[in-house]
Parts: sequence; C-alpha cells; structure tokens
Amino acid sequence: MKKFGTELTHLGTRVDLGKQAIPKVAPIVMSGAFEFDTPEDLEAANRDEITGYSYGRDGSVTNDCARDILTALDGGEVSEIFPSGMAAISCALMAFLKSGDHIIMSSVVFGTTYNLIVWQLSKRYGIEVDVVDMLADDLESHFKPNTKVVYLESISNPMVAVADLERISKIAHRHGAKVIVDSTFATPIVCRPIDFGVDIVVYSATKFLNGHSDLICGAAVIKDKADFKDIADQRRIFGRNIGPFDAFLLTRSLRTLEVRMHVHCASAMKLALYLSEDRGLNVLYSGLESSPFHELAKRQFNEGMFGGMLNLDLGTYENVMNLARHLKLVKLVPSLGFFTTTISDTRTSHSSMSADERKKCGIGDGMLRISVGLENSDDIIQDFAQALNAIGQ
Ligand SMILES: Cc1ncc(COP(=O)(O)O)c(C=O)c1O
Repeated sequence: MKKFGTELTHLGTRVDLGKQAIPKVAPIVMSGAFEFDTPEDLEAANRDEITGYSYGRDGSVTNDCARDILTALDGGEVSEIFPSGMAAISCALMAFLKSGDHIIMSSVVFGTTYNLIVWQLSKRYGIEVDVVDMLADDLESHFKPNTKVVYLESISNPMVAVADLERISKIAHRHGAKVIVDSTFATPIVCRPIDFGVDIVVYSATKFLNGHSDLICGAAVIKDKADFKDIADQRRIFGRNIGPFDAFLLTRSLRTLEVRMHVHCASAMKLALYLSEDRGLNVLYSGLESSPFHELAKRQFNEGMFGGMLNLDLGTYENVMNLARHLKLVKLVPSLGFFTTTISDTRTSHSSMSADERKKCGIGDGMLRISVGLENSDDIIQDFAQALNAIGQ
C-alpha cells in the first residue's frame, strides 16, 4: 500500500520563481516557521547575519512588504505592523514607559486610547498621567523630570483639531521626551508627522490606510532606528502579531491610498462648505477658512488636503440620532475611513470616557463624526440635504 505521509508533509514548499518572474503583488507567505538545512544557518539567521526568517511571530515575508511601504510613505527609518490600532498605540507607549514615569497626553484623543492611558497605564501600571489641552500655550509647564512621552493626535478624534507638531516636538525634545502621534485621521498622504520632528507615528490602519472595511490592523512608523527594538520587542514578546493574510490586505489597500485620499479630501471639503455655508451649521474642518486651524493645516498638510473627516455639531444627541434615522445613503458605523460615507456619534466613539470626562474635554453629545467616502460627492450632499430638511435643521 502506498504511503503518502512523507510527500504530504515535505513537498510543495520550495518556490523558485526565477530571476525574471517578479510577483506584481506582495506574496502571502503563511509559514509560521521556517526550516534550515544546517544548524549554522539557523544560528546565523537568529543573529541577523544572514537575511531570512525563522519564526512567524518574530517576522514574516508578507508583513515586511507592508512595513516597507509604510516606512517609505511616512519618511521614517523603520516601521512595525500590529493586529489593531490599539496594539500599535499600546506597544509604542509601553516601549518608552515604566512605572514611575510620567506621560503628557492630549485631552482630545480616541476614547479607547484615553482609557488605555488614564485607566490602564495610570491606575494599573503606576504611570503618572497629565491630561493636557495641547492647543493651549502652557504645555511646557506640565513637564517633570520623569516625563518620558508626549502623546497626541495630529487631527484629533472627534474634534478634528490640528496639533502644531513642530512646536510640540521641540518642547518635548527639550525635556528629553519622545513624541508619539496618532495620525489615523490624516494618513501620510495628508500629513507626515516625522517631517515636523515627531518620533513615532501610530495608526489605526483599520481606517483610511486600509479603507476597505475588511481588516482590523495597526502600524507604527519610527523616525530613528534606535527606537525600533523596544517597540518590536513589545509586539514580539507580548505576542501582538498580525498574520500574513491581513498584512497582504494592507499592502493591497496601500496601493490606492493616495488616489483614495484625494477623493476623501475633495469631497469632505465640498460637504464642509455645503453644511457650513449653505446650511449655516456648526462644522469643524480645518479646510474651512473660518477654522482656527486653517493656517496651521496649510503649513503642515500636503497642499490642498485637509483630511476626510469632519465634525458637525447638531447641539443635542437627539438631533444626531434623528439625522441618522433620516440619512439613506450614509449609515451609522462605529468606525471610519472606509469607501462609503459613514457617521458615528461621540457617545459611541468615546464610550470609554464618562459623560463628565467627555464634557470636560469639550466633546459634545451633539457632535457627529462624518467620514466622507468615495461616492459621488453630489449624492453625499443630497443625502445630507434631504435628512437635514426632514429634521428641520
Ligand atoms: C484615532 C484612532 N486611533 C486609534 C483607534 C483604534 O484603532 P483599532 O480599532 O484599529 O484598534 C481608532 C479607532 O476608532 C481611532 O479612531
């Protein structure tokens, strides 16, 4: 009787495409571990003396394809990818913080990030936290000898306020602190924080970077290679690993990031103008000349681009829910950055904060976060027009 066990377990792994046949897309290499012909080869691979991979959690072929693209886009020296935006943020923070250290954090950040820093890192791990208005002039007064990190968002969630990255980085570096910036709303197509002195850029790549609503993942782009090992160790040792198939989906998405962002930004600008000028509503968007962030955004952002996110303040939570009920094309989705236009309310995006905490940070229950998608912009505007008419706004 023929026995198949050896062929089944040993054949089909040696792939030689030849020098002329270069794949057009990133190869999905699912191998959880790699084999070596000699013990010397394995040792050399482990010491990084020969290029190669040994164990999937330490590094993988497809993941490195995604990392190469991200590093180049943001102008960093190296990058790392993670199974979620929160994994990227927590690894970047924990790489530079230990108990007894101090972090200065922006008062307006994504709700779960607020929870991570104010509740988890502070209450459970003994890290001192100051929650600070990054837009105020008194940032310098919050530094202490043990301040190790300044954390903020380049375009804040949900207020879409624009942070002066150069000013904040200069102050932080004077005090020997690292600057970590979440640039999920901006993407490197709109803003490259490293160009303004930021040390680590983190992303929920779930959002615009992926853009297809079929992936949860995160990324960190690092200005200086010397900071890489601590962040990579957090990922590797705490096991926050992203699989090769997800990394492939990210590379697939990044190919179209620039063209997608141009459409997101152009349509967001049109919708912001319609809502603020034609409807007289309270819209926060740095593309509007009336925005207090307009001049800073023009200096800091890629020409003519202000991002795909805007904040519409309808005054009350009831108005937000009413509008959501009447919108037809635009749906209520607790996320953002996808190919369709979506809305979400701040009670959901910032549910990790209490009502009091939200109020203290200026995050109103009547605010609607609009993520402008890739539909025809006239159709997006038409949908808001009919829904606003229906609720008498
Ligand atoms: C600005 C920002 N950062 C981080 C995150 C967390 O990302 P993820 O859901 O991929 O963990 C989100 C999620 O909404 C976000 O909006």
